[in-house]
Amino acid sequence: MSDFTRASALLAQAGHIAVMTGAGVSAESGIPTFRGPGGLWRGRDPMTLAAPEAFAADPGLVWEFYNWRRALVARAVPNPAHIALVELARRVPRLTLITQNVDRLHQRAGSRDVLELHGNLAEVRCLGCGATEDRSGESLPPLPQCGTCGTLVRPAVVWFGESLPGDVWLAAESAVRTADLVLVVGTSAVVYPAAGLIATARRAGAAVIEVNLEPTPASGSVAIGLYGKAGEILPRLVTGASS
Ligand code: OAD
Repeated sequence: MSDFTRASALLAQAGHIAVMTGAGVSAESGIPTFRGPGGLWRGRDPMTLAAPEAFAADPGLVWEFYNWRRALVARAVPNPAHIALVELARRVPRLTLITQNVDRLHQRAGSRDVLELHGNLAEVRCLGCGATEDRSGESLPPLPQCGTCGTLVRPAVVWFGESLPGDVWLAAESAVRTADLVLVVGTSAVVYPAAGLIATARRAGAAVIEVNLEPTPASGSVAIGLYGKAGEILPRLVTGASS
């Protein structure tokens, strides 16, 4: 039996599937991944901008980067991988979608109750009063201010060295512990704590299926690895799951 057929059978039998996605799921929507080709912004590694120290040193530069990403995301549309996950949720008794992505393309495709481990680009958070505002659909000025108190705001994303939102993290951990199948899509599996969910799932007895362009550090420990574009593999996998 091929890996693909085995993966389809596992999907068809599962009572609770947890899906964890990374930047690769949005690559076919034209959003560059962090570590692949095209990951640099003006010759800079985005990881050097996605950090509190970078924002403290030069908020204008960090906002320029995030305003560029916000514009890119606003123009992008969900691709067949996002859409296949909406369909999968309809076909299985329970599905929990966990994402490291901040682009909200899962939600725009129709996925509900998405656990956003790293926040999102739609919202901003005030450095003064702490208020969070949804500023999606707006083109923000170079140094955007809080609608309530006028202080500088920052993107409501998790930066390197910062904690993940506690409630979201607990829900994600609980999902991978209780799921019988965990589908890991388009993540390099090197950024912790998110990548640790894969080992947690395995320890709890879930079968883990990885979908990626290429093997990752997690590949050695997954039950099945399917290598190719998520936008091609997921629709076939989901269709196979229902037959
Ligand atoms: P990465 O950029 O590290 O990895 C993207 C992964 O997607 C790679 O393993 C690629 O092989 C794979 N990939 C690319 N195109 C694909 C396609 N069409 N189909 C399937 N797979 C594809 O992105 P993440 O793992 O999401 O965090 O990165 C994790 C975190 O690091 C991000 O959430 C972000 C970043 O720094 C923060 O900003 C806190």
